[in-house]
Amino acid sequence: MTKNASDLPTATPFPKSLALHRRAERLIPGAHHLSGRPLVDPLLSPMYFERGKGARVWDVDGHEYIDFLMAFGAFGLGYANEEVDRAAFEQASRGSLLSLNHPLHLRFLEELLARFPGSEMGAFFKTGSEATTAALRIARRATGRRRVARAGYHGWHDWCLPHNEEVPAGLAAQVLEFNANAPPSLQALFDAYPGEVAAVILAPEMVLPFSGETIVALQDVSRRNGAVFILDEVKTAFRIAPGSVQRRVGIQPDLTTVSKALGNGWPVAAVLGKRNVMESAAGMHLSATYHGETASMAAALATMAIIDRDGVLAHLWEMGERFLDGLTALVRAHRVPAEAYGEPLPPMPFLRFTHPDASLNALVQSTFYQEVHARGVLLHPRHLWFISHSHRPSDIDRALDACDDAFAAARRREPRAFDHP
Ligand SMILES: Cc1ncc(COP(=O)(O)O)c(C=O)c1O
Repeated sequence: MTKNASDLPTATPFPKSLALHRRAERLIPGAHHLSGRPLVDPLLSPMYFERGKGARVWDVDGHEYIDFLMAFGAFGLGYANEEVDRAAFEQASRGSLLSLNHPLHLRFLEELLARFPGSEMGAFFKTGSEATTAALRIARRATGRRRVARAGYHGWHDWCLPHNEEVPAGLAAQVLEFNANAPPSLQALFDAYPGEVAAVILAPEMVLPFSGETIVALQDVSRRNGAVFILDEVKTAFRIAPGSVQRRVGIQPDLTTVSKALGNGWPVAAVLGKRNVMESAAGMHLSATYHGETASMAAALATMAIIDRDGVLAHLWEMGERFLDGLTALVRAHRVPAEAYGEPLPPMPFLRFTHPDASLNALVQSTFYQEVHARGVLLHPRHLWFISHSHRPSDIDRALDACDDAFAAARRREPRAFDHP
C-alpha cells in the first residue's frame, strides 16, 4: 500500500515531485486523480511530469524517461506532435465550439467511417466512457431490450464499475459479465435471460491470447440471439494494424467505440455503426456541451492523415515485436518468474510477474519497476504499455538494456524469487 507522503523520509531522487504530492494531499481526495496513482511509491517513483516530446517525458525533478505509458494510450504518434497540435491550435483560433453545427463534424465522421468498413453513421463524444455508455443506450433503443452483457473495462460510469454500494442498486441484474475467452459463457447469459439482452460489448484486449476466431464466435453468439454486437476499440483503434482489431479479424461489428489514439492527446471519441442500428439514435439525448468542440476533431483529422501517410501502424507492430522478443529473451536469461506478451497484440506489450508466492511476486515486481524507472525508462507495473510512432529501434534497445540491468538488480535484492521452475 502507498505510504502517506507526509510520513515518508525526504531522501528521494524526486523531492519536487514529493512536495507537489504533499500539496495535493490537501487538495485532491486520495492525493491524486486515479490515473495519477503512484507507479511504485511517491518516494521511489516520479509522480509529477512537466513536459513530453515524442517518446520522451521529463519529470519535475528533471529526469528524462523513454515513456511507454503514452498517457494510457492517448498518444499513438508521440507527445506534442507538431502537425497535429498545429491543426488543433489553428482550429481553436477560429473558435473551437460554435453552438450549433460545424462542417468539421461531417468531415471528421466521413474520415472516421472510411476507416471502419461496414460502419455508415456515427456520433461524436469526448471520452471513451461516454462513447461506450452511448453505444449501450443506442442498442437498447434499437432492440427494445434492457439488459447488456460486457467483457472488459469500458470506462468509469456506474454500469461499468464493480457492483458495490457506490453504484445504484439493481445494476448487477442489468449488466451481466461474460468470459471473453469462452463464447459458451455468453450463450449462458442469453439462455438465462431469453429475449432480454440488448447488447454485447467486448473490449478485444480481453481475448487472451489473441484469437480472431474467438472474437468471431462472440459476435456470432450475439447476433444469433438478436443482440447488438459492440466492439469497444477505445484502446485498439488506430493502434492495431491495419487500423483496428475488427479490420485485422475481418468483421464488421454492429457498433464500434473509438477514442484514445484517435486524437493524439486531444479529447475526442465516437460511436460508429451500421445504419439500421445507428438510426435509432435520432433524437436520443446523447448531448453534452463540449461534444461539438472542433479543435480535437481537427487534431483527429491530422492524426488519421499521418497514420496513413507515414505507415504508423506497421511501425508500432515492429517496435512492439522487438520489445517483446527482447523481453522474452531477458526473462529466460535471468530466469525471472515473468511472462512478456502483447495485450492483446505487440503494439500493446506487457510483462506479468508470475511467482506463485504473492508477496514475493509483489516484491520482485516493485523492485524491477523501481530499478527500470531509475534507469530512465517509464513502464507501468499494473497497466499494459503502449508503443508510439516516436519510439525508434534505439529507444527499444535502450529500454531492453534498462530491463536487463533491472532484472539483475532485482535478483540481487530478492534472490529467492528467481530460478523458480
Ligand atoms: C476499452 C476501453 N473502453 C473505454 C474506456 C474508457 O475511456 P475513457 O477513459 O476515455 O473514458 C477505456 C479506457 O481505458 C478503455 O480502455
